[in-house]
Amino acid sequence: MKPVRVGICGLGTVGGGTFNVLTRNADDIARRAGRPIVIEQVAMRRDNPDCDTTGVKTTNDVFEVAHNPDIDVLVELIGGYDVARELVLTAIENGKHVVTANKALIAVHGNEIFHAAHEKGVIVAFEAAVAGGIPVIKSLREGLGANRIQWLAGIINGTGNYILTHMRDEGRAFEDVLAEAQALGYAEADPTFDIEGIDAAHKLTILASIAYGVPLQFEKAYTEGISRITSEDIEQADNLGYTIKHLGISKRTDAGFELRVHPTLIPKERLLANVHGVKNAIAVMGDAVGPTLYYGAGAGAEPTASAVVADLLDVARDITTAHRYRVPYLAFSGITDVENNL
Ligand code: HSE
Repeated sequence: MKPVRVGICGLGTVGGGTFNVLTRNADDIARRAGRPIVIEQVAMRRDNPDCDTTGVKTTNDVFEVAHNPDIDVLVELIGGYDVARELVLTAIENGKHVVTANKALIAVHGNEIFHAAHEKGVIVAFEAAVAGGIPVIKSLREGLGANRIQWLAGIINGTGNYILTHMRDEGRAFEDVLAEAQALGYAEADPTFDIEGIDAAHKLTILASIAYGVPLQFEKAYTEGISRITSEDIEQADNLGYTIKHLGISKRTDAGFELRVHPTLIPKERLLANVHGVKNAIAVMGDAVGPTLYYGAGAGAEPTASAVVADLLDVARDITTAHRYRVPYLAFSGITDVENNL
């Protein structure tokens, strides 16, 4: 069967992980996809010492990938807003499917990108944009497709949870643990996004859009970070029987949909209070299924690559799955008045 030819843009933490998973598990992936998925080209600013790119065509110009006629799917792993937006729109214009892990891009420019993809009949897949390796987007779209979602809430920033966990367990200072999370490749290029809740708000915006079938409305999210939480706060909470967790919460209400990100006191015995380190967990309440919980690694090279490659498998299996990725955009028509009632 004809291979699916992939161009990877960005060979940093997630790009490197994606390169290695695709290479290492090529046989299993080809069996599952029904056709090989081959890395046709990689665009990178510098070598990644964890990746052996011998024999793979490389470039330092990501737009070369977007214009390469030998590429079927562009994998956008450069992060950020502006260049990533232009890159993805160029790839779509050239008829390529797009897989991205870029939550900032989808949360802020997703409506425009979905529209462009819809016009061109190509797939835009972004499982890796939310909660690293946890397949929560697929779960919302597919497994919970029968449900009216009432609310969802969870830990959706691995760096923040890593910081809060190690501050509590080891009494370490905020800055010290943040530096460690950065060294481990968990944090955003600008760690302010992690510690001020912006990254979590991007992810919550995407989850809410899929859960309720409404437009992406990042600007409506209430966003509060963890940078002012001290070791004393954590200790006092502990004395009172609570753990401080940084949550993204979205609820369906009579007035519209709430979107909020903020530190929360959770009774110690609750499941979410016992999610430690870089792990994420998202609880989703559906009217038919009741409460469900999704747990796993929320950041890091190969957990995030796991989600990127899962999207590539979807693209490879059957290009007609494109309709699944148009759902958010199509659902937008007729729903324009979504209020944040905070
Ligand atoms: N900086 C993000 C986090 C990476 O820590 O959750 C994964 O989205």
